[in-house]
Amino acid sequence: MRRILIVGNWKMHKTASEAADLVHRLSVLVPKADGVDVILAPPFTALHAVAQALPRSSPFTLAAQNLHWEDQGAFTGEVSAPMLKELGCRSVIVGHSERRRLFRESDAEINQKVLAALRHELRPILCLGETLPEREAGRTEEVVTGQLLGGLAGTSKDGLLMVTLSYEPVWAIGGGRAAPPGQVTLVHERLRAVIAREWGSEAAQAIRILYGGSVSTTNVGGFLASPQVDGALVGGACLDPQSFATIIGLAQGAAR
Ligand code: PGA
Repeated sequence: MRRILIVGNWKMHKTASEAADLVHRLSVLVPKADGVDVILAPPFTALHAVAQALPRSSPFTLAAQNLHWEDQGAFTGEVSAPMLKELGCRSVIVGHSERRRLFRESDAEINQKVLAALRHELRPILCLGETLPEREAGRTEEVVTGQLLGGLAGTSKDGLLMVTLSYEPVWAIGGGRAAPPGQVTLVHERLRAVIAREWGSEAAQAIRILYGGSVSTTNVGGFLASPQVDGALVGGACLDPQSFATIIGLAQGAAR
């Protein structure tokens, strides 16, 4: 059975000291999270502060929001997998729609990032999702399948077992307009079918597929009620410790 995973993507919010404060407050509200996995993804500059602020018994693990595919070199402004590992990251978000859209990341670049993460045993959380015009043109399946196969090209079955997918329709992010759980379930089924075809049914059953896009305390239960949805990638709502704690509690209630 796939364990539910909740990821908090802080995006470009919180200085290091603000991040430590948020983690202290969250740790009081969520001293443990039996039955579910919870990952915090603060900005690069707050990773160290968050790692230091987490109690030893904390249920939270750390992720970065991005990485470069080379280990080192003349890449001004970039951060590599070994650097993230040393800071205590176990996972890394790759291919978020804001990176694809605002920073023009291609599937080929995203693929290099996935492979670099896997080389260093960082678990990639690969984001996929269609824009509103793509959905309206009936192209959702084609778009997410292309992103899946492009992003995971050259990934072995063992590598795939380290990957988490997060389906995040671009039109549902940040606007308070989440996708209907029924639609999300259909896309997740489709993604699992493609994985079964490419990597085998065992991999398709094992891989976790999250939903992201305006997840809140009021709608998360509806997503987790679908056996196809293995958790949530939470943006805005993870910055409020009370809301994020409530979401984690609801996920525990839905734990399988
Ligand atoms: P949101 O962000 O929850 O604020 O919509 C989700 C995301 O971008 O992953």
